[in-house]
Amino acid sequence: MDHALSRLPRWKDENVLIGFETSDDAGVYKLSPECALVQTVDFFTPIVDDPYAFGGIAAANALSDIYAMGGRSLTALAVLAYPADGDPDTLERILRGGADKIHEAGCALIGGHSINEEDIKFGYAVTGIVDPARVIANAGAREGDALVLTKPIGTGVVGTAIKRGLARPEDARAAEASMLELNRAACERMLALDVHACTDVTGFGLLGHAREMAIASAVTIEIDPEAVRLLPGALDYARLGAVPGGTRNNREFVAPCVDGASPLDALLYDPQTSGGLLIALPEPAARRLEAAHPGAHRVGRVLEKGPKPLRLARGDS
Ligand code: CO
Ligand code: CO
Ligand code: CO
Repeated sequence: MDHALSRLPRWKDENVLIGFETSDDAGVYKLSPECALVQTVDFFTPIVDDPYAFGGIAAANALSDIYAMGGRSLTALAVLAYPADGDPDTLERILRGGADKIHEAGCALIGGHSINEEDIKFGYAVTGIVDPARVIANAGAREGDALVLTKPIGTGVVGTAIKRGLARPEDARAAEASMLELNRAACERMLALDVHACTDVTGFGLLGHAREMAIASAVTIEIDPEAVRLLPGALDYARLGAVPGGTRNNREFVAPCVDGASPLDALLYDPQTSGGLLIALPEPAARRLEAAHPGAHRVGRVLEKGPKPLRLARGDS
C-alpha cells in the first residue's frame, strides 16, 4: 500500500500535518491552530474463533492508530465484507463485539458500509482529534531515549497455533485478552509524560515498526530481545513451526536493516494484531511510564545513527 500510494501525484495542502509519506499510523489534518483531525482505517479476516471477540479485536486494532498518534477517538464507521448466505447470528455477534468495544473507548459508532463477499472481513474507519502541537509521530526519537512497549508480543504465532488446533485454551484466551485491550490507557499515561515518538506494533512486527521509527527519526534503535515480553505459549508455538506467512515477508524486508541476530527471530518479526504502543521517551519518563502502566516494559534504547537503523543487543550488554 505504501509503495502504491508513493507513486500517486501529490497535491500540496498546508493543513495536512501527516500524510502517507512517513509510514505513520494515521493521517493528521489541521482544522484550526488548536485542533487537528486524526483519521485511520483498518480491517482484516477473522483471527479468533469467537465472533464477538473478533469484532472487539477489530475495533481495538482500528482505534489503536488514533492512540498511537496521541489522539482521542470521536467517531467510527464499520467496514464489512460478509457472504450473502452467511449466518446472521454470527454477523450480529461480530457487530456487537465491535460496537461494545467502540463504546468502551468513548467513541461514537455513526454508520458503516458492507458488501457481499465469500471471505469475512471486518474493521473500522476511525476519526479522532489531537492538539496539532502534540501530535506524536514516528519521527522524534532522540539519542539517549529509552524504548518502551506496552503489550507482549506473539499474537501472530498464537493465532496460527489456534488455527492449527495447537493452542492451549488458556494461551488462546491470554492472546485474545491482549488483543482486546484498548491502547487508550497507555496513550493517556504516555501523554502525561515527555514523549518523543510513538507507533503501535501491528502487521510489520516489532522490528518492522521500530525500523520505521528509526528511519523517520534518523537514529539507530537497539532492541534487547531478552527484554521483550512474550505472550504465554508464544515461544513454544514458534518452535513448533506455528509461524504465520507474514513473518517471512517481514524478515525479508527488515532483516537487511538489522545489525545482529537473535534466536527469538520468529517473534521479533511476528505480525501483531492490536499490538501495544512502542514509545520513545527520556529515561526518567520511561521509569515513570513503567511504574504507571502495568503492561509497559523497556525493550531497548535509542542510539546515535549508525550504519543500520536497527541493532539487536547482545546478551552481555
Ligand atoms: Co498503526
Ligand atoms: Co493501521
Ligand atoms: Co505515531
